[in-house]
Amino acid sequence: QTALNREKLLKDVSPEVLQLVEKYEGLFSVSSEKLKDITTHFVSELHKGLSKTGGSIPMIPGWVMEYPTGQETGDYLAIDLGGTNLRVVLVHLLGNSKFETVQDKFALPDTIRTAKADDLWGFIADSLKDFVQKHYPEKPAKPLPLGFTFSYPASQDAINEGVLQRWTKGYDIAGVEGHDVVPMLQKALAEREVPIEVVSLINDTTGTLVASAYSDTETQMGLIFGTGCNGAYYEYVKNIPKLEGRLPADIDQEGLMAINCEYGAFDNEHVILPRTKYDVQVDAESPRPGQQSFEKMISGYYLGELIRLVLLELHDAGSFFKGQDVTKLRQPFIFDTSAPAISEKDTTADFAEIKALVKDSLDIETTLDERKFIRRLSELIGTRAARLSVCGIAALAKKRGLEKCHCAADGSVYNRYPGFKERAAQALRDIFDWDCEPKDYPIVIVPAEDGSGAGAAIIAALTEKRLAAAAS
Ligand code: GLC
Repeated sequence: QTALNREKLLKDVSPEVLQLVEKYEGLFSVSSEKLKDITTHFVSELHKGLSKTGGSIPMIPGWVMEYPTGQETGDYLAIDLGGTNLRVVLVHLLGNSKFETVQDKFALPDTIRTAKADDLWGFIADSLKDFVQKHYPEKPAKPLPLGFTFSYPASQDAINEGVLQRWTKGYDIAGVEGHDVVPMLQKALAEREVPIEVVSLINDTTGTLVASAYSDTETQMGLIFGTGCNGAYYEYVKNIPKLEGRLPADIDQEGLMAINCEYGAFDNEHVILPRTKYDVQVDAESPRPGQQSFEKMISGYYLGELIRLVLLELHDAGSFFKGQDVTKLRQPFIFDTSAPAISEKDTTADFAEIKALVKDSLDIETTLDERKFIRRLSELIGTRAARLSVCGIAALAKKRGLEKCHCAADGSVYNRYPGFKERAAQALRDIFDWDCEPKDYPIVIVPAEDGSGAGAAIIAALTEKRLAAAAS
């Protein structure tokens, strides 16, 4: 949003609404100086996370210890348990940095976030059964190897396990936290006689990193800007003190290991992020208060909620939606990220799309001034999300001393939120003070390869190769 656009948008609004806009501009804008301070603190938190005592960023070793060469081949199954869908993918790794995929999407039931553990594993196993029957009408001679993309913080001492530390992104299924999720899925598969062996468990960021490195050797980070926000990168084994004593004796200290940072948990102790009272409220009403502080300010699961809280406050103060029934507006999480995204995309003269959005989802009529306010508020929240998001990238680059690289990104916010890419690139420039054209920025966020499918498959292939080498 250029200054001119802002001026045009706010030209005829009442002085009261203009004053409100200015108030929220003050609350939600993040200066370049602040971004730099956040990044500096972020770097020290990354170090802490790798130390023996640990910090609030989990920095989970992912047991992926090699860069793919692009020459890995074979057929692998992969599943990706995302926020709204379960994706089942059959990946043909062809070598020469090429692969093909065949996939099915299974919509997760609305109630899954708070379902029972058996329902979750049952749903996944049923979907896999369906997929295998379709693609392998003849029963395969040996179990099909499967890479499981599990996009939650899971501790690993080996590639084929993952003990869920805690649910994130609004999930709240009892009996899973503190347990290895692989045997749970394996049991549900066995009960249904599905011929599959789970050979690796990876985070979606690790999958994104590895899949993109398979086809682009300049890739140094795998990032998700979606329902949640997180990043993975390769670290030197010698720089991961907390691995001491957990590694085989013959491990190469100069070698690399993929780290799933789980940096959504950055600043859980609230020392640096510019949290507003709305951020505090979002946290308080979430199933896991006190956790994922960074993620709750920037990721797709929470952006619509921030808009709702501001609008509700304005109504309760007598400023907005006067005399109307706001029952729906009182309902937490009634808006998802499509609300600010639609508002930012609306190019109609009187913001007809914002009007329809508020009418259809909340049963509320809006004045033109209210719609202009919603538009500006969406810009502020969307811009803040993009600017804060890249502090993770900048911190990883500084930590690893990377001056030039590709950062492979995926996720609904990155792919679909209007203006996110430009704002993120601009924010990186603001942190590093680059003095060049956007096309020449040395650290570039690029669209990822299909991380959750191909990444899981490539990792399964790398694991097989490593195990075979160890056995011989
Ligand atoms: C949340 C999860 C993390 C995942 C991210 C993106 O932060 O904890 O594991 O990578 O969302 O999906």
